[in-house]
Amino acid sequence: MLRYTALFTSILAGAIVSAQQICVVPFGGYGVNDVDGLTALLPNCSSDATIVFQDGVKYNISTPVDFGTLNNVEIQVLGNLELPKSIPYVQQLVNATAGGRLYWFTMKGNNITLSGNPDQSSEYGWVDSYGIQWWQEAQYTQPLGGLANRPHGWSIAANSSTIRNVKLRKPIAWSFSLNGNDMHVYGNKIDAAYDLNNPGVFPFNTDGYDIHGDNVLFENNWVFNGDDCVAVNAGNNITIRNMVCEGGHGASLSATTGVDNVVFDNITSINSLYATRFKSSLNSVGNISNVTWQNIHVHNATFPIFATGVYYDQNTNRGRTPGVYPANSTATHIKNFSWINVTGTISDVYTGDGSCTTDPCWYYVANATNTAGITLQLLNGTATNIQIHNVNLKPIDGKGVSNVVCDPSSFTDGTGNLGFECVNGPYVST
Ligand SMILES: *[C@@H]1O[C@H](CO)[C@@H](O)[C@H](O)[C@H]1NC(C)=O
Ligand SMILES: *[C@@H]1O[C@H](CO)[C@@H](O)[C@H](O)[C@H]1NC(C)=O
Ligand SMILES: *[C@@H]1O[C@H](CO)[C@@H](O)[C@H](O)[C@H]1NC(C)=O
Ligand SMILES: *[C@@H]1O[C@H](CO)[C@@H](O)[C@H](O)[C@H]1NC(C)=O
Ligand SMILES: *[C@@H]1O[C@H](CO)[C@@H](O)[C@H](O)[C@H]1NC(C)=O
Ligand SMILES: *[C@@H]1O[C@H](CO)[C@@H](O)[C@H](O)[C@H]1NC(C)=O
Ligand SMILES: *[C@@H]1O[C@H](CO)[C@@H](O)[C@H](O)[C@H]1NC(C)=O
Ligand SMILES: *[C@@H]1O[C@H](CO)[C@@H](O)[C@H](O)[C@H]1NC(C)=O
Ligand SMILES: *[C@@H]1O[C@H](CO)[C@@H](O)[C@H](O)[C@H]1NC(C)=O
Ligand SMILES: *[C@@H]1O[C@H](CO)[C@@H](O)[C@H](O)[C@H]1NC(C)=O
Ligand SMILES: *[C@@H]1O[C@H](CO)[C@@H](O)[C@H](O)[C@H]1NC(C)=O
Ligand SMILES: *[C@@H]1O[C@H](CO)[C@@H](O)[C@H](O)[C@H]1NC(C)=O
Repeated sequence: MLRYTALFTSILAGAIVSAQQICVVPFGGYGVNDVDGLTALLPNCSSDATIVFQDGVKYNISTPVDFGTLNNVEIQVLGNLELPKSIPYVQQLVNATAGGRLYWFTMKGNNITLSGNPDQSSEYGWVDSYGIQWWQEAQYTQPLGGLANRPHGWSIAANSSTIRNVKLRKPIAWSFSLNGNDMHVYGNKIDAAYDLNNPGVFPFNTDGYDIHGDNVLFENNWVFNGDDCVAVNAGNNITIRNMVCEGGHGASLSATTGVDNVVFDNITSINSLYATRFKSSLNSVGNISNVTWQNIHVHNATFPIFATGVYYDQNTNRGRTPGVYPANSTATHIKNFSWINVTGTISDVYTGDGSCTTDPCWYYVANATNTAGITLQLLNGTATNIQIHNVNLKPIDGKGVSNVVCDPSSFTDGTGNLGFECVNGPYVST
């Protein structure tokens, strides 16, 4: 009976698989842009299909790929996708794009899976963007902060989407922009690794994931980059867990309004400017509620726990002094935010990172020291029920104490819920 059931199930499974068309992307050989072969397949492979970039092959993805509208489609990246190495060639494509925002890979639709090589240690399954030369050249090109005309990586706008086991190597800049309801993102690697001790070569704007979506689950992803590891920009019911973020600007909620019910759980932060960050910009209007960062393992972060309602973009605010807010400035109202179980070390030897190209630096905070364990830069009356408990942060060189930046006027409900003394000074739990 057991055997019969197993056989019956496998026949059913076989029937479902065979309804799915397999579309193998041909490899054209040297000198051929493999996007041509892919594009020829698409009219017949946009629904109920599996599009396969074959294992062991290095595809030449010489032009941007618009997959169009896909329904019930899995894209398997088993081989490598090689983007062009010529900076002027790519810049000219971006410059020619209306609005200047070019994604190298674009898709929309419903029930889309982007999957990588199931053998995570395989030398295949990588998307190679050759970003290092862009980061290097940026140090000689004014204005500092990254070259002009950089492409974005992937834009996926779909409900019921999955991204698993995908590996991105040396992205030029932004990696994933994700939009939609019901997203599952797991087992992916983004390698924009850079030399922490050579701040001149910095991977500007290499955001790992920018998320706009409801019912989102992220698990077991690894990112080493130079901007937000993951940035929640809009949505409700978002969980990000078991993630490793190296370098970069941490597990972020970056929005002015329209985000609720977000949990960051079990995040390991290594050598980052921020381990956890809430960021909204000055003069925003809006509300964000129910956000928790819990079980955060911090190794050498400049700002382990950080919230700002007055974020300052060095590209649009050159010459202005961060920390000087005109009278009647407004900011996003945040409610029910908590940080629970945050342990580890504060970077107090070489603070900051190579993203600082203005004077004063965009991440300068008035009254913060080089051992800023908790930094809350929140305008008068813009926060309610903020709780920060079970914090154990120490300067990495063992010298000094963890400090906090905190203004009691920030909180509409007083400082009784906070969990620590709201002063500019040493961290004292209450
Ligand atoms: C990639 O495609 C372009 C044409 O768009 C071609 O000029 C170039 O030689 C190809 N590169 C490789 C490695 O095949
Ligand atoms: C589409 O796929 C079907 C099934 O594999 C095949 O018979 C048909 O020739 C394909 N059509 C085109 C235009 O490639
Ligand atoms: C989603 O797409 C996959 C193919 O990628 C297919 O096997 C599955 O049946 C689809 N799910 C639904 C609910 O249509
Ligand atoms: C875009 O290209 C035009 C010439 O085609 C050039 O004048 C302009 O400076 C370029 N813009 C940027 C931002 O590089
Ligand atoms: C929240 O998102 C998770 C993961 O997508 C999902 O399983 C769960 O049903 C969602 N909860 C609600 C209340 O929508
Ligand atoms: C925390 O995440 C790591 C992966 O970064 C994982 O290995 C570990 O099992 C997770 N811990 C818990 C308690 O889930
Ligand atoms: C801490 O981070 C800084 C800045 O990223 C880096 O220069 C330094 O090597 C790191 N220290 C350790 C002990 O990893
Ligand atoms: C925040 O959480 C509380 C308690 O779980 C819930 O009642 C409230 O609806 C949530 N707020 C939003 C905007 O979802
Ligand atoms: C700030 O707002 C108050 C009350 O609306 C107003 O009287 C005052 O002129 C404003 N100040 C500035 C600098 O706009
Ligand atoms: C905080 O850590 C304690 C001890 O490890 C654990 O029991 C508790 O569940 C953690 N809290 C959260 C919200 O994960
Ligand atoms: C710095 O701290 C002092 C004393 O706590 C306070 O008066 C001042 O407003 C703070 N500066 C800023 C920009 O927050
Ligand atoms: C904060 O705002 C309240 C109400 O608008 C006002 O009464 C108070 O003086 C302000 N406090 C500070 C420190 O600006």
